[in-house]
Amino acid sequence: MEERCPNGFSLVIEGLAKFCAPDETLYRGPNGAYEPSLAPVFYNPEMIENRDITIVLLKYFLTSWGGEFNFLDPMAATGVRGIRFALEVADQSNKKVNIYMGDISLVAVELMKHNLKISGVSSLNNIFAQVSLMDANEHMYHLKRLRIALNYIDIDPFGTPVPYIQAALQSINNGGIVGITATDVAVLEGKYPSTLSRRYGIRGVKSLISKEVAVRALLSFTLRSAAMYDRYVEPVLSYHMKHYVRIFIRILDGALKSNTYLDKCIGSMWHCPKCSFSFFEDLSNTREKRKCPLCSGDMINISPLWICDLVNVAHIKEVLIVAEKMPWLTKSSMNLITMLSKSNALAPTIRTTYVARKFKVNAPPRDSVVKCIRSHGYDAAMSIYYYDGINTNAPADVITLCVSKGY
Ligand SMILES: C[S@@+](CC[C@H](N)C(=O)[O-])C[C@H]1O[C@@H](n2cnc3c(N)ncnc32)[C@H](O)[C@@H]1O
Repeated sequence: MEERCPNGFSLVIEGLAKFCAPDETLYRGPNGAYEPSLAPVFYNPEMIENRDITIVLLKYFLTSWGGEFNFLDPMAATGVRGIRFALEVADQSNKKVNIYMGDISLVAVELMKHNLKISGVSSLNNIFAQVSLMDANEHMYHLKRLRIALNYIDIDPFGTPVPYIQAALQSINNGGIVGITATDVAVLEGKYPSTLSRRYGIRGVKSLISKEVAVRALLSFTLRSAAMYDRYVEPVLSYHMKHYVRIFIRILDGALKSNTYLDKCIGSMWHCPKCSFSFFEDLSNTREKRKCPLCSGDMINISPLWICDLVNVAHIKEVLIVAEKMPWLTKSSMNLITMLSKSNALAPTIRTTYVARKFKVNAPPRDSVVKCIRSHGYDAAMSIYYYDGINTNAPADVITLCVSKGY
């Protein structure tokens, strides 16, 4: 197999894939570090967890789909995600798998074709791989028009995914999964309220739990968008990491179910910017003035947000078992999957540091607060969003007591 890379590119190994990516020594920012956006084709090694988790999730789900599997990465850049899917998931299955990859950049498309050859994907018998020079929306609608039942679509643009979500929600097959990355996290977190309102239809400002809000805001947008097409979304897994939010949602048909999800899972969050205590409610009284039940501070309202579970823990426990058989996954990806498998979003995250500060005490260790809450008969779990965050269904007085005293 010819393993040479075009000028300006060098061989990279990620997961089980060997492919050409920009030579990092040639594209450095002012601080001397590799700057992916300067390269002719985008490849960011920092996003490895994003790709690792895509691969392990698809490995878990592939077995549950009958017939052929159709994978689409319409913003594929080097093609790394599709190549890893081919080598780490599809090759080891007995299924016929079709991998569609595309990009709007001709250089990326040429590189992807080269990478399919040097990675060995082109010679795998059960895999058909096609690379297209196309706009992502055009690509999704094109495959839909050809009646290709897409089981997975990956949306990984620069910045906001909003311009691609409508096409993805309409092109994915019933029961299929869409993975969405958003790097406009400052907007989703509420730092720019007017952009949040214009882009995502959400009223809010930056809070003490803005990472969780960012995830809930993106899920809210996707469910409200899916509802326009009589479809609904079920989150498989969602998280905030580094500079991005990532959600994996299953898309299903059903106008009635869509109404039910809108009623049950779209609501408002009341948040205290002093002690971080928050709770969910329906959308009926979002303009009221409220006092925090924990510290009596003035609360703010952020809505409409997704207020149901962020992770399907039953699935993620199984995904963790699959991941444990993939020793090439990075440690940070394994840590993330492990944390997600233990997550429990009973209520919005509360941050012990802010509660303790409000009551002028030193915050006890987080696990001691969790144990204390459990000893009072309530559920509590460590939040995946903040080192001092917990999720609990305990009332304000129990939280105050446990943060003041610990276990
Ligand atoms: C963030 S990169 C994708 C990285 C890739 N998914 C990975 O994991 O390495 C975004 C890619 O989308 C491409 N792109 C930007 N706008 C596009 C559009 N409208 N249609 C298709 N591709 C587009 C860019 O050329 C770039 O290669």
